Amino acid sequence: MLEWVSLVETATGRALGAEIGGVDLRTIDDAGFAAIHRAWLDHLVLLFRGQQLTDDDLIAFSRRFGALDWAPVQETGRRFVEGHPEIYVVSNVIENGVPIGSLGAGEAVWHTDMSYLEDPPKASMLYALELPAAGGDTFFCNMYRAYELLPEELKRRISGLALKHDGTYNSGGYLRQGVSAVDDPLTSPGVYHPLVCTHPETGRRVLYLGRRRNAYISGLPLADSEALLDELWSYAERPEIAWRNQWQVGDVVLWDNRCTMHRRDPFDPAARRILHRTQIKGQARPKA
Ligand code: SIN
Repeated sequence: MLEWVSLVETATGRALGAEIGGVDLRTIDDAGFAAIHRAWLDHLVLLFRGQQLTDDDLIAFSRRFGALDWAPVQETGRRFVEGHPEIYVVSNVIENGVPIGSLGAGEAVWHTDMSYLEDPPKASMLYALELPAAGGDTFFCNMYRAYELLPEELKRRISGLALKHDGTYNSGGYLRQGVSAVDDPLTSPGVYHPLVCTHPETGRRVLYLGRRRNAYISGLPLADSEALLDELWSYAERPEIAWRNQWQVGDVVLWDNRCTMHRRDPFDPAARRILHRTQIKGQARPKA
């Protein structure tokens, strides 16, 4: 429940997500921020509609959660807003023959942001500037619930295991600039994190999958790792633990990377879609 009286919290009624009304993110005070922070831990993903933010406003609100990471290196390199390396541009738009952003117009598969880093960002925030008339919806899923859905025997089997999070390909299926193509999960570059993590703020257990491509469970024969991952993903991809945002211009969506994953529907490549994203540094490596 929000303690800050003018904010209106409306849960999506799905397994995660709430819309927060009655707020202008440019003018949040400490009490308002505390209420938003609490709601974010409770609901995992927050939607703020009708915002009118400059890039500086987006950075200022994002920094309330902590220091920011720079935009990730994607297929088009590190696409950020000039003068603001913290703002990653998600876009299919090409200007003067040069892509202004990353991820194109295709599907972006389920993933959590930048989990191929030792200290992945704890949160990300997307601000919608230009949108296609149809498509490009973003889905989020609740990875606490994914863990809770697992049969006890499966929870025991994965306890103590570590998973490699691949750094070769991004969620759009593109090779990150400067990285060699590798499709062998045993040799692809990446970072290991516990398969089951404890959320550092809520203390709840979460299935931490990151992304499927080139994932590998340490110590297992590849075929066993693939089979176990397929089994785990069958829980993570259940529609009942997901919620989708149908974007409107002015939407800000804030999510917790430690306990959610997200994916995006494709859209008409001839249409324009531009979103600006910030990513808030994690304070520590994911822990079991
Ligand atoms: C992202 O993965 O951060 C981008 C999602 C989107 O384009 O909606």
